[in-house]
Amino acid sequence: MSRMSALRSKFFWKIYLTFSALILVSALLISWFVANKVETIAFKNLDHSSSNQIAFLEVVAEDALNNKESIGLLSQKLTVAARKNENRINIIDKNGVVLVDTERNPETLENHATRPEIVAAANQEYGKEFRFSSTMNEKLMYTAKAIRSNNEIIGFIRIAVPLTKANAEIQLIQTTLFSIAGAGIVFALLIGGFLTSRVTVPVSEMVQVAEALRRGEYNAKVKTITRDEIGRLGDTLNRLGSELTNKMADLHRLENVRRDFVANVSHEIKTPLTSIKGYIETLLSGADADPEVRHRFLEKIDRNANRLSALVQDILSLAKIEAAEASFKIHNIDLLPIITGVLARYDDVAAAKNIRMNFKSYGHRLNILGDNEAVTQVIDNLLSNAIKYTPDGGRIGISVKPAAEWLNVEITDTGIGIPEEHQERIFERFYRVDKARSRDLGGTGLGLSIVKHLVNAMQGDIRVTSKTGVGSTFFVKLRSS
Ligand SMILES: Nc1ncnc2c1ncn2[C@@H]1O[C@H](COP(=O)(O)OP(=O)(O)OP(=O)(O)O)[C@@H](O)[C@H]1O
Ligand SMILES: [Mg+2]
Repeated sequence: MSRMSALRSKFFWKIYLTFSALILVSALLISWFVANKVETIAFKNLDHSSSNQIAFLEVVAEDALNNKESIGLLSQKLTVAARKNENRINIIDKNGVVLVDTERNPETLENHATRPEIVAAANQEYGKEFRFSSTMNEKLMYTAKAIRSNNEIIGFIRIAVPLTKANAEIQLIQTTLFSIAGAGIVFALLIGGFLTSRVTVPVSEMVQVAEALRRGEYNAKVKTITRDEIGRLGDTLNRLGSELTNKMADLHRLENVRRDFVANVSHEIKTPLTSIKGYIETLLSGADADPEVRHRFLEKIDRNANRLSALVQDILSLAKIEAAEASFKIHNIDLLPIITGVLARYDDVAAAKNIRMNFKSYGHRLNILGDNEAVTQVIDNLLSNAIKYTPDGGRIGISVKPAAEWLNVEITDTGIGIPEEHQERIFERFYRVDKARSRDLGGTGLGLSIVKHLVNAMQGDIRVTSKTGVGSTFFVKLRSS
């Protein structure tokens, strides 16, 4: 997901707008506060300098008020001083008559007794007033102080400072301040946008991936993986996707196995059924007249019926194992009677093929954790295969060896062997190395798949080694107890 599409994310705007509002409000508050402070300080300074000058002029003014002759000279000197300081100085007598003015001829001025700063100065230490002066043609700050002699007001001293210059300075400071604040805000908003998108882009990306997973697009991946909790979440989401992909592949494979199984079963059932039907039809169309032919055909029908029966038996037992696998009952059982029992059952078959069977045990206690019936079926299947795929006069050996937590059972024969490329697959359902041959021997290819299921259900293991024309050995590992 690109940075641009962050702009379409609600999450982005939620965080970004909150952040921006905070920045704006705090920046404006601080600027406003500082601007106010600057103004206050500037006026205070102005005030201070006026008071200082008044304190200095007080003495001079007192002299002038007491000795009117000196006024002319004083007026000249004050005018020079006022020009320098860029202000205006007045000395006013107690009745409001202006005696000295550094800007005009005092005689042209009206009486100042009612000026607010003069009225105020009569009652407080200083009288102050901001006012537009038509004399000076600008806004001024007037500060006045009463001059006393023996506690009697004898006149006033007044200083007027133009505010234009101070105001211009204040304005300059404030403009600078607001410009810096504005630049700061823009910078903060840009950086804020970038930082916010760093958080929201991966989140939006994860939302998209999660939605894709829900739609079944399991290969959707989060690309922005940061090194924090959000990154871990993205990584987990990616793993989830991979796991889902694997699980789906497993399901797919299982579905194929099931479909193959149904096809195989149908085929396996169809073959003997077709034969049976053929023989019966031939018999019905008159072939039963010849007793020899009839007997031969009935024998064939019998063999095919047996095959069908064996097949159904195997399928049922496979279904049963699969159903019961989870609830398999594992007991402590003795392997010895099981093996000898199976061997005894195959005595006659082996003798008929002139095959010698040999059992060897390397331990006194052959106890395992397993299910009696299951172990019997495992040994039975392996022994039946060994006899089936070993030519007349061959040898079969069974041995049991305890090894730590395991009991190793080996079934060896000197039979036809299994070519390397088939060894992996003989444990699959219906898999036979030589279909025709196995079928002639009455096999369906389910025996070893049943064995493998059973061994796995008992948490054991089975594998095979074999060489064509030499023989095969099946190794079964069972948990000893
Ligand atoms: N001891 C063995 N020697 C040689 N080949 C074997 C041996 N055991 C199994 N096989 C091969 O493995 C295949 C699968 O064995 P499996 O027991 O599953 O099926 P089957 O014996 O053909 O039929 P079923 O056991 O269902 O009657 C056999 O068809 C055979 O080709
Ligand atoms: Mg078999």
